[in-house]
Amino acid sequence: MDHDEITLEQARKSASLKWTRYGPGVIPSWIADMDFPVARPISELLRLLADSGDLSYAPNMHEEPLAQLFSQRMQNRYGWVPDPSGFDSMTDIVQAIYIAVAVLCDEDHQVILQTPTYHPILSACRKMNREMVFNSLVPAGNGWQIDFDQLRDCMGPRSKLLLLVNPHNPSGKAFQKDELETIAGIVLENDLFVVSDEIHCDLMYSNAGPHIPFASISREVAERTVTFNSATKSHNMGGIRCAMAHYGSESLRKQFDRFPDGMRGGSNAVGNRATRIAWEQCDDWLEYTISYLEANRDYFVSFLQREMPDLRHVPNQSTFLAWVDCRELHLDHDPAEFFLKRAKVAAYSGAQFGPGGEGCIRMNFATSRSILSEKLERMKRALSEIY
Ligand SMILES: Cc1ncc(COP(=O)(O)O)c(C=O)c1O
Repeated sequence: MDHDEITLEQARKSASLKWTRYGPGVIPSWIADMDFPVARPISELLRLLADSGDLSYAPNMHEEPLAQLFSQRMQNRYGWVPDPSGFDSMTDIVQAIYIAVAVLCDEDHQVILQTPTYHPILSACRKMNREMVFNSLVPAGNGWQIDFDQLRDCMGPRSKLLLLVNPHNPSGKAFQKDELETIAGIVLENDLFVVSDEIHCDLMYSNAGPHIPFASISREVAERTVTFNSATKSHNMGGIRCAMAHYGSESLRKQFDRFPDGMRGGSNAVGNRATRIAWEQCDDWLEYTISYLEANRDYFVSFLQREMPDLRHVPNQSTFLAWVDCRELHLDHDPAEFFLKRAKVAAYSGAQFGPGGEGCIRMNFATSRSILSEKLERMKRALSEIY
């Protein structure tokens, strides 16, 4: 296991969406896949499944050891003790968010989002005609701050659902306990439901404390919280489709049960087995990967400061997705388009992430150091050509 060994030539052989969308000259830095191979126990499992020819239907979640395993993992790592009977399986988290929006609020209600935010969440609200209310996350020195006054001010009789991304994508912010407690107070005062998308929780760096599940704040908060999680981001297997939902109360489960199960999907046998192996046997891979990512994060930060000081960036506390504010470049068009055209580096346009995203890009630093360095050198060269 050596993430340093991945070369551009090798990475280009991937049949993934990430590497095929933009053609051979471009280095992708957009979608949230890492360029690292999965942990060996996961690839061995997949080989074994293929060799055995057994690709049958998966057992139901209550007959699966996954719920118990996840509950134990949350307890060991984060001190949260979710009741294993509160779990449900989902195909993936984006789909789960759509279902949550469908069942926890209706078209008369307002959904509160902290922006910039993971763009499929915005799409879910937009496509289902839910009115969105935005609460800003604001870069402040070496961190991001929540505008709590704005969050309190935006509450009203139609406020219904808070969609939290904890830890946060695209800022890489890890929420602190006092911040989550303040959010919890506002949630209780205004009788909101909460969806807490915690897919990035295992990817925390040393400048953050341990992850704090939102439902662990208090029993009252847990009762109105649905937590979504998955091993797919931390263990780099986005293609296997397996996610977990945890309902903090029976009444929340009942709300979700109103959604027709045939339309809901669920995880599959391969996804469930791979997730189990990830949580049971791959902590050494995860630890190594986090330390590699943290070193990449540091390299990224110092490269920007040294070579492209007009790009503003708050160092990540979590995730491998870096938010870069390009507004001081005063480009006359979207910076993502600029870097795609002039540097052949494909980043996400910040504009997709809602208010506060215009003039910014989101980049992915989960790659080998040599590929990361090539991306940044290309961007530096592109900038030197226009200034
Ligand atoms: C915050 C967040 N939620 C959900 C997802 C996607 O999860 P899934 O592949 O299970 O839909 C991502 C992917 O990057 C993400 O960053």
